[in-house]
Amino acid sequence: MNTSILVTGGAGFIGSHATVVLQQAGYQVVILDNLCNSARSVLDRIERITGTPPTFIQGDIRDAQTLDGVFASHSISAVMHFAGLKAVGESTQVPLSYYDNNINGSVQLLSAMQRADVRTFIFSSSATVYGEPSILPIPEHHSRSATNPYGHTKLVVEDILENLYNSEPGWRIARLRYFNPVGAHPSGLIGEAPQGVPNNLMPYVAQVATGQREKLHVFGNDYDTPDGTGVRDYIHVMDLAEGHLAALRYCEAAQQDMLTVNLGTGEGYSVLDMVRAFEAASGRPVAYEITGRRAGDIASCWADTTFAEQKLGWKAGKGIKEMCEDAWRWEMRQSVKD
Ligand code: NAD
Ligand code: UD1
Repeated sequence: MNTSILVTGGAGFIGSHATVVLQQAGYQVVILDNLCNSARSVLDRIERITGTPPTFIQGDIRDAQTLDGVFASHSISAVMHFAGLKAVGESTQVPLSYYDNNINGSVQLLSAMQRADVRTFIFSSSATVYGEPSILPIPEHHSRSATNPYGHTKLVVEDILENLYNSEPGWRIARLRYFNPVGAHPSGLIGEAPQGVPNNLMPYVAQVATGQREKLHVFGNDYDTPDGTGVRDYIHVMDLAEGHLAALRYCEAAQQDMLTVNLGTGEGYSVLDMVRAFEAASGRPVAYEITGRRAGDIASCWADTTFAEQKLGWKAGKGIKEMCEDAWRWEMRQSVKD
């Protein structure tokens, strides 16, 4: 195979796992990443897992010249677009950075694809576009809303993709709505490495288990859920990566199409379920304290996975035990020097 898949943000958490899955499926990968939230060392780790180093270009998706250079010097058949900023709280403090990276960046990338005549595009959207769910499990046709700038960027890019798809023939687009990606590659070589205090539950839990943080603050136990804590659909990042491969294959087989798919497991677990699962996987206690609700949080959220199974023939296979075991292996290996 002489063509390559361009993976923007391929040095990041989800993009690095997708790169592994793509390479193991026989695809060549070109990563474009500005390393604003990742490290170059992930490239060696990917090579250690797959035996092949991905081609790496350090650059920004907002830079048209860089993009034109990438398309001119590599035969790109499709783009998986992970590059962007993702912290909800930060997005309320620096909204313009979020609109610039996530919306302008996507527009620049799609424009460069148009110039290079590459029309297969897999987009990282989020279950955040469903806002407060009115139906559980959440089907793809659920109404959309955004309560913060990050979520708004995902809504806008979804709409841009629909407009683009309707404007000219030949586009093959997958808008993938992720639920809560957690876990790590089973080797423990790549995983999620948040900078500073983690915003998301599972990296925080892992740092309490290692002793880096004293205790978890559980954001509310008065939700209308079985134990009162928030319920989410946690999906193993390797299952998520496999979902991207399935979406790519679906697009490759289509003349043109645009599909919008949930990537989740279809099962919801509470904060305390996840604490207990992590304690079992790590053999370490995870101290916690119940505090007030976090602004903007919803009670429950899990995916209707019927459409993903029907359309992509893909279903998540890993449960919370594996998610916690793999996250723990990654957490432990991070302290080991290569
Ligand atoms: P991440 O921060 O680990 O990875 C993103 C990568 O993109 C990083 O390596 C970063 O350096 C790079 N990047 C950011 N802006 C860039 C730019 N302008 N040009 C080039 N590279 C740039 O995040 P992730 O968790 O891997 O998320 C990947 C995508 O999935 C994001 O679009 C995110 O919004 C989306 N998503 C993530 C989650 C989640 O919980 N992790 C959930 C839903 C959707
Ligand atoms: C958050 C984002 C969402 C994003 C998703 C994946 C918000 C409001 N939403 O979703 O837009 O797509 O991450 O990146 O930030 N929790 C605690 N203590 C903590 C952290 C979390 O109790 O220290 C609880 C939360 O209240 C929630 C659950 O754990 O019930 C999961 O939280 P988190 O991992 O942040 O994901 P989401 O809130 O689902």
